[in-house]
Amino acid sequence: MSSVPKVKLSGGLEICRVLNGMWQVSGAHGAVNKTKAVEAMQAYVDAGLTTFDMADIYGPAEEIYGLFNSQLNSGGASPALQGLTKFVPRPGPMERKVVEKALQRSMSRMKVDTLDCVQFHWWDYRDKRYLEALGHLSDLQQEGVIRELALTNFDTQRLEEITSKGICISSNQVQYSLIDQRPAAKMEKFCVANNIKLLTYGTLAGGLLSERYLGKAEPNSRAELNTASLSKYKNMIDSWGGWTLFQDLLVALETIAKRHECSVASVATRYVLDRPAVGGVIIGCRFGVAGAGQYISDSLHSCSPDLRLTAEDHAAIEAVTRRSRDLMALIGDCGDEYRS
Ligand SMILES: NC(=O)c1ccc[n+]([C@@H]2O[C@H](COP(=O)([O-])OP(=O)(O)OC[C@H]3O[C@@H](n4cnc5c(N)ncnc54)[C@H](OP(=O)(O)O)[C@@H]3O)[C@@H](O)[C@H]2O)c1
Repeated sequence: MSSVPKVKLSGGLEICRVLNGMWQVSGAHGAVNKTKAVEAMQAYVDAGLTTFDMADIYGPAEEIYGLFNSQLNSGGASPALQGLTKFVPRPGPMERKVVEKALQRSMSRMKVDTLDCVQFHWWDYRDKRYLEALGHLSDLQQEGVIRELALTNFDTQRLEEITSKGICISSNQVQYSLIDQRPAAKMEKFCVANNIKLLTYGTLAGGLLSERYLGKAEPNSRAELNTASLSKYKNMIDSWGGWTLFQDLLVALETIAKRHECSVASVATRYVLDRPAVGGVIIGCRFGVAGAGQYISDSLHSCSPDLRLTAEDHAAIEAVTRRSRDLMALIGDCGDEYRS
């Protein structure tokens, strides 16, 4: 097994700097065969990529993790997994029993006695019951049910509010890529000052940030944008500056990738991994979905200390990205795209 660089979260959990994302087994990225998904996960763990990101709302993702986890444990000495999940409640009462019930369901699906990390999402800041939910989550952390208490898609203002109430947050999972650099505006600085790590998604824009799309005509149809991820990030590219500018970015990235003998995806990942507050990048894996690629060696290369982007590389990237629109002004801070 190779040695994958790790990062320690504030509660002590060590996770890989490249995480395997399981939204891709929710069903929104092609039909999932659970047996094949479990089989496909083994190669990632064998390569040292032992950290998985999922959510209570990602269809069978927690269950697939649980099946894999129990299979691995029954096979004798096995590498430790880190399973990060999310608690994404519908708006409604946030009494302790509601929170407890949701966590029990995740534990039962994941086949674990305690949760490594719970990342909390909230849909509407006007409904202040997110503070009530976080109070219960914090108590459950003290009681040992959760190891790391984390957030996803919270903006800087609420992150400040939450931490000022004495709630200890390990990480915030946000969109961060060469396209969407909103975390650099405010979020990053607050996280560095408060020992909060950013775990990022959208870093490969659903696969658009790869050689596969270099020189390609703009994909617009549902047949071309055939995963939830591709259509989500194609919209982001449209807001950012459009397909022609995106092609300029891919050309610049290909030149850099050739210089480092790596892929465009590795350059895109490394760029985000090098940002000050970023603990890890989540790369979506379509485990057990027909037609999915397998990118283990790329992921290993992306987080290897051997891949070092130079000032020249950064200048070439910034020559393109500076011509893009200001997404912070257009959309708002991290996660605002989920709120009206
Ligand atoms: N908190 C949130 O709101 C939120 C939102 C979105 C995602 N997430 C998390 O982030 C994870 C990642 O999801 P994402 O939507 O951001 O997707 P992504 O990681 O940007 O893209 C994943 C896709 O990129 C392609 N890919 C991966 N490695 C590649 C490589 N080296 N070269 C070329 N293509 C490559 C694969 O396409 P093929 O399968 O077609 O080969 C894969 O399905 C999710 O699973 C989830 O855990 C969280």
